[in-house]
Amino acid sequence: MIQLIRGFKDVLPGEAELWQHIEQTAAALFTDFGFKEIRIPIMERTELFARSIGEDTDIVEKEMYTFPDRKGDLITLRPEATAGICRSYIQHKLYAADPVKKFYTIGPMFRRERPQKGRYRQFYQLDAEVFGSDSPYVDAQLIYMLKILFHRLGVTDIMAHINSLGCPECRPDFKDALLAYITGKEADLCADCRRRKDKNPLRVLDCKVPGCREAMASAPSILDHLCENCHVHFKTVQTALDNLETPFTIDKRLVRGLDYYTRTTFEMQTGSLGAQSAVAGGGRYDGLVKALGGPQIPATGFAIGFDRLAEIVAQAGKTYATDPDLYVAALGEAALPLVFAWISKLSETGIRAEMDFEGRSLKSQMKRADRLRAGHVLIVGDDEIEKKTAILRNMTTKAQDAVPFEGILEILRTRLGEKE
Ligand code: HAM
Repeated sequence: MIQLIRGFKDVLPGEAELWQHIEQTAAALFTDFGFKEIRIPIMERTELFARSIGEDTDIVEKEMYTFPDRKGDLITLRPEATAGICRSYIQHKLYAADPVKKFYTIGPMFRRERPQKGRYRQFYQLDAEVFGSDSPYVDAQLIYMLKILFHRLGVTDIMAHINSLGCPECRPDFKDALLAYITGKEADLCADCRRRKDKNPLRVLDCKVPGCREAMASAPSILDHLCENCHVHFKTVQTALDNLETPFTIDKRLVRGLDYYTRTTFEMQTGSLGAQSAVAGGGRYDGLVKALGGPQIPATGFAIGFDRLAEIVAQAGKTYATDPDLYVAALGEAALPLVFAWISKLSETGIRAEMDFEGRSLKSQMKRADRLRAGHVLIVGDDEIEKKTAILRNMTTKAQDAVPFEGILEILRTRLGEKE
């Protein structure tokens, strides 16, 4: 038997209804906040990701699914959505009439990480990006929108962790301070960090290897090195969050695993997921559009780990199954064509109706109706055809009564249409 690839997974019926519920809740909320859906390809030129996410990040160095296409061009299965959305924004000059644009997208991403609970090689993200404003209020609004989404989905064990990574003006000063701190501690660092530290000392701060974490425990904080503008920006994010009654904690170690960030970075973390505590991550990336060949347009955004969010929502135990409203037990040759037309017309108008095509006994059809968790069963046999009335049984209360064939579709729509 051929099995699926390690780190990949199927979303089976049952779970898929929960995914639909999350997608619909998010799409409705994001639309109310002015976001429009964008759909971008799953593959892009490798260079796009290398230039945006950064050559010496784990994602680009170790985790991308990259291969030459038949002509030898290097292409990559997207490890995230921000780079592709930026590419699209620039390519189609979506900034032309009005640079402020808000997009969201939902889809699969690919990273060849070590699989474990909450960490997959194909995972889904619900991604939102805002272009054209460098206002701290936009950052605060994104975090607020995330909080509202989680609350609507019944997830309350959630906390916003925020930090600022400064800008090209103050970051060099911080990098120097960091490098000075690291100098002399090289022996305690992992091989990756020793290699990356000169070019990109921030990566050392983000390293999860215990030895590196220990060595960096009293590293200087970026927050002590912010320039005045970045400092005011970060303070305004905090005041705006306070005004929106959105709790947050300042996490000066929150560097994030992608190189494009400037100023505000954030993660939504939960205690409900074990080791993989980040359900969403994001931040501002004011230099990326320009770095990719577009105009100087600031931007900010986030991505929710859909699989992780679905796991937390599932913990609440609510089912989103779409059980049939009606199971029609057709008994005998004459009933079949009649009943077949009924179930087709009922399904067309939103009453989920099923039947048995194999002519099984009443007992086995009732068993099947039970298995499918149908709300009602309609019994139509030779007797019922003779009397031109069917028997309708409520599977919860077990009450049953006769329903005339005349106008039966209308009667069923009225009686079954009011779903609780
Ligand atoms: P990220 O932190 O790399 O950011 O990913 C965002 C979220 O995706 C994570 O918080 C996590 O919930 C989920 N995630 C990441 N990797 C995996 C995995 N292997 N398995 C399951 N879930 C995973 C970004 O991707 C940025 N593009 C976010 C962003 C948008 N920043 C600005 N705009």
